[in-house]
Amino acid sequence: MFKSKIAGIGKYVPKNVFTNNDLMKYMDTTDEWIQERTGIKERRYGDRTGETTTTMGVAAAKIAIERAGITPQDIDFIVFATLSPDYYFPGCGVLLQRAMQMKDVGALDVRNQCSGFVYALSVADQFIKSGMYKNILVVGAEKHSFGLDFSTRGRNVSVIFGDGAGAAVLQPTEKENQGILSTHLHSDGTHAEILAMYNPGTHANHWVKENKLADFDEAEMGEMFFSHAMLDKAQVFPFMDGQSVFKVAVEKFPQVIKESLEANQLTTADLSLLIPHQANLRIAQFVQKKLQLREDQVFNNIQKYGNTTAASIPIALCEAWEEGKVKEGDLVCLAAFGSGFTWASALLRW
Ligand code: ACO
Repeated sequence: MFKSKIAGIGKYVPKNVFTNNDLMKYMDTTDEWIQERTGIKERRYGDRTGETTTTMGVAAAKIAIERAGITPQDIDFIVFATLSPDYYFPGCGVLLQRAMQMKDVGALDVRNQCSGFVYALSVADQFIKSGMYKNILVVGAEKHSFGLDFSTRGRNVSVIFGDGAGAAVLQPTEKENQGILSTHLHSDGTHAEILAMYNPGTHANHWVKENKLADFDEAEMGEMFFSHAMLDKAQVFPFMDGQSVFKVAVEKFPQVIKESLEANQLTTADLSLLIPHQANLRIAQFVQKKLQLREDQVFNNIQKYGNTTAASIPIALCEAWEEGKVKEGDLVCLAAFGSGFTWASALLRW
């Protein structure tokens, strides 16, 4: 059986830089508060007219495909992870297939939020290992800036997120010491409502009673897929109970990283680089300390881009590779945790 390797990686971030001071024009916040709690200094926001989640995904994909030494017509399957799709349906996979003039290959959309890219990579890995496909494009992209509450009401969420895209081309490899060694996927829906965007949706208030959705007016909210009341009460934006997310994240990240190492009879000492989902610098630092990893064993770039959800791992992996921090033979762990909750890891030999 083959293993799969990342044959090419690419990233795209919009040109428009939005600093913490820029956010202060819209909401009651400070650079100091944001940096102290999250580590974020600035993030990128997509062009308001021409740039979408898919177009950013296309830009990253073009680079990944070129670096893999192939053309878009060689791609035989697409896996696209995002929580901020261009349309509610159809998904971004088909829009990318059209934009890149690919053959009529399969396009699968993955909805696993911050764990989306690792889930997508795991799906692609299985198709390569089974011999079904030879060139799979895996994309993670987000345009968060279109769906955030930039008033003071939404500041606990909106300061964290940024736009961007990353992409990888997976191919089979027969080399003994190369490729994805294993992937590990988990979920626990008990916490589904503490990091979520409830509307528009078909929930009809069903979960409101059981799970006490934040600040919901049951009578008005549940009857429609979309309503004026939802807009008036700003219930079309993401909701996050940050402290609860933090507590579970710092438990699950180390668990799933250790799980990947133990599955391959390896230890943290063998790890060349950990690329955690860029949720929050404080979470990454906590994980580093808990696993007793050196500074040079963990890659972070949330300071520049904020949390780009499904795009954060491929953007970070690409940047680490471009900076020469990921080299042939290196043991790299990708680890994610996020809404769902879902969490996942992938261990690979570059
Ligand atoms: N600027 C200034 N003040 C703010 C802001 C802001 N942007 N946001 C919230 N505050 C205020 C609150 O109103 C509150 O004020 P009060 O004490 O007068 O009521 C105070 O700051 C503390 O608010 P908390 O929400 O308790 O702040 P906390 O210390 O928990 O920090 C944060 C919030 C950064 C979100 C933190 O909980 C956290 O890091 N959580 C992890 C969640 C995370 O990283 N999510 C990322 C997305 S999910 C993922 O990718 C896994």
